[in-house]
Amino acid sequence: MSNNTLKHLALIMDGNGRWAKQQGLNRTKGHEAGAEVIRHITTYCATHPTIETVTLYAFSTENWKRPKYEVDFLMKLLARYLQSELKTYQEENIRFIAIGDTSKFSKTLRDQINSIEEKTKNNSSLTQVLALNYGGRDEIVRAVNTIIKNGQEVTESSIGMELDTPYQDIDLLIRTSGERRVSNYLLWQLSYSELFFTKTLWPDFGTAELITIIDEFIQRTRRFGGI
Ligand code: FPP
Repeated sequence: MSNNTLKHLALIMDGNGRWAKQQGLNRTKGHEAGAEVIRHITTYCATHPTIETVTLYAFSTENWKRPKYEVDFLMKLLARYLQSELKTYQEENIRFIAIGDTSKFSKTLRDQINSIEEKTKNNSSLTQVLALNYGGRDEIVRAVNTIIKNGQEVTESSIGMELDTPYQDIDLLIRTSGERRVSNYLLWQLSYSELFFTKTLWPDFGTAELITIIDEFIQRTRRFGGI
């Protein structure tokens, strides 16, 4: 019998653009609908008995290649989302953390991110991690550079400690929209994760499907290299 425990859930939220196109809408409408889904999924995770952390890929280091109007829209949507979420974070006891290299973001957005991290730092029902200007290779390179600068030895443990997401291996990764790629996401932390790919586009993803996937995750046998 399997007894997998889901503590850390990671999500690649893909398919906003295709969803909008299917509805005859502008891609930005897909991102707006996607932000609503983040809200529902996070609230569900906060009530789940074992989930401690949910890490969502909101903006990758490659997303800057998108048209300027779409990048600008995503930045504004993020600011709007964070502003409206603060109340929920406090009511539902959710801690907010951003990972990735946010130095490329505007000062206003960085200040907003820091302020929400500070205000929610003692919340304990769930940690919601947003990966922002995040790349898995970039995270590892930044960690190794910090270790070298500190004159420490480069080991699995020292790298693990210097990552943006210390101490947190991923138990389950879900990617929506039918793509079967990891796309430079949490490369170090995904080493032994269970991977799930669903054809559902992110704006159509919901709690019911998440529950089905979690049920399957619980049944899977995780051997972590053993037998
Ligand atoms: C992928 O859809 C989605 C992203 C660029 C990242 C996820 C972003 C959101 C859910 C928007 C809201 C985020 C926050 C934090 C407010 P896509 O555009 O790649 O879809 P496509 O592959 O169908 O074009």
